[in-house]
Amino acid sequence: MSEAPPLAAVLGAPIGHSKSPILHGHWLRTMGIRGHYIPIELGDQTFEEGIRGLQTLGFRGANVTLPFKERAFAIADTHTDRALRIGAANTLTFTDGRIHADNTDSYGFLNNLQQHVPDWSAETGPALVVGAGGASRAIIVGLIDAGAPEVRLANRTRARAQQLADEFGPKISVIDWSDLTPALDGVATLVNTTSIGMGGAGELPIDLAAADKTTVVTDIVYTPLNTPLLHAASTVGLRTVDGLGMLLHQAVPGFEAWFGQTPVVDEALRQAILTA
Ligand code: ATR
Repeated sequence: MSEAPPLAAVLGAPIGHSKSPILHGHWLRTMGIRGHYIPIELGDQTFEEGIRGLQTLGFRGANVTLPFKERAFAIADTHTDRALRIGAANTLTFTDGRIHADNTDSYGFLNNLQQHVPDWSAETGPALVVGAGGASRAIIVGLIDAGAPEVRLANRTRARAQQLADEFGPKISVIDWSDLTPALDGVATLVNTTSIGMGGAGELPIDLAAADKTTVVTDIVYTPLNTPLLHAASTVGLRTVDGLGMLLHQAVPGFEAWFGQTPVVDEALRQAILTA
């Protein structure tokens, strides 16, 4: 009997808009791997049952997206260190009836910056992170792992930023929402983790003319690719990295674990997503 093709899935609700099937499908096709990666929408009541069902069916694992990242974390038997610190999982691997959880968002964030600005280093100065939701947690963990000396954190609802500061320790300093511009002083990395700028709407209350010329600006929003923040940054001569690459890079560890080969994030992959 020939070995069955490896299977993986992405679970979420809704799932129709997920780009993950396109990007894993691109890798499977271009690398000649006889596997499948499929989107599955699960109801609120059926997440855990669904995960068990995939294990029974012999799936190698799954990506998990909103709103199930915390439940994916909770159902796992073992976790990577970064998943433990982020407190949520986006990548599950099934082995011998056990579930291993990873969170590859911090990895995706860092690899995107390193790919597009090869001389970028988190170590060269403080980071300024805007937003204090789930994406912010992953990016804070990434920045700390990459050696950022300080993370300045601003959120519209200050209490949420304070909660993250209490949790992640003395490297985090909470900044008032109205103090974003002075907080740019000396910053190596500016990151928007809020949904501001999605669909081109809304702008952060920040004047990028005050930033050092070496500041690298990035956004987790990638619709549009050139968000109002990135547009404003390039207008004053700052280097920018769009958010699509974070999505592409975060998919790499899961693909490796399930399909056994390391995929590349290149222009062909970007174009596959952009034209889909
Ligand atoms: P995610 O898990 O994707 O990060 P989230 O937990 O809903 O999503 O967090 C969304 C982030 O965007 C929060 O930091 C939110 O600020 P609040 O905590 O004050 O809600 C921020 N955000 C969303 N819309 C915003 C807006 N119009 N102005 C300022 N911040 C906004």
